[in-house]
Amino acid sequence: MLQVEELKMHFPLFGGVLQRQLGVHKAVDGVSFSLNQGETLGLVGESGCGKSTTGRCVLRLLQPTSGTILFDGRKELLQTDRRRLQMIFQDPLSSLNPRKTVLENLGEGLVFHKMAKDPTSLVEEVLEQVGLSKEALYRYPHQFSGGQQQRLCIGRAIALKPDLIVCDEPVSALDVSVQAQILNLLQSLKEQLQLSYLFISHDLSVVRHLCDRVLVMKEGRIVEEGKTEKIFESPAHPYTKSLLAAIPPTYPVR
Ligand SMILES: Nc1ncnc2c1ncn2[C@@H]1O[C@H](COP(=O)(O)OP(=O)(O)OP(=O)(O)O)[C@@H](O)[C@H]1O
Ligand SMILES: [Mg+2]
Repeated sequence: MLQVEELKMHFPLFGGVLQRQLGVHKAVDGVSFSLNQGETLGLVGESGCGKSTTGRCVLRLLQPTSGTILFDGRKELLQTDRRRLQMIFQDPLSSLNPRKTVLENLGEGLVFHKMAKDPTSLVEEVLEQVGLSKEALYRYPHQFSGGQQQRLCIGRAIALKPDLIVCDEPVSALDVSVQAQILNLLQSLKEQLQLSYLFISHDLSVVRHLCDRVLVMKEGRIVEEGKTEKIFESPAHPYTKSLLAAIPPTYPVR
């Protein structure tokens, strides 16, 4: 469904009194991978290694320096592809419009993509799918808890009947007790709606639980790739080993 070849995203670095370009920062430097339909592909690596940048390029929120990104074999996104590709961000509150009600926040995409003239009943359905009641319709984002705000963002994404959702650290801003609920919601929606996920996270235990395959990224490149069990049971690259060694044990070690 998604094919990324030799993706590079180099940001110019400016500095000095004249703010001249001093060089480039190679945030993503030759990344290739593919994502099959129905798959949850994990993208892991330390902070700053280029995970979010990769996700933004896939969604065309950033124009890559070079490389190709094919969605269903197409380089250019069609209007329907924009609907079929959605994103869920780390910070739910800042990705919702604070001045708009839940109905407006979740409904505007539906109207834009001509899926409904009056989106009210579709938004109600979606709220139910993400575990919120329809009393939420006329409330504003700040009136919800962090976990509920993330449910709203998930609702806004699934309302458009997407095929691929890029989840960029969807639970890392949430309280630990809420993280599991949101992950379970993502997992069950995936099965119900036959979604594919590109799942960006630095939390390896989450990735192990959710992903079919994992890409390990370091300094803008992919250093290891494989089935989740294989990566966790027998990591080949020293960097993957060091990442795994840093996971705190979730059970008492004897
Ligand atoms: N718009 C930008 N301009 C310049 N540099 C940028 C820009 N966006 C990101 N970078 C740099 O690119 C590198 C990769 O950033 P990115 O956000 O992709 O990291 P990440 O892997 O998502 O990290 P984290 O786990 O902390 O979210 C970082 O060093 C960052 O400073
Ligand atoms: Mg990031």
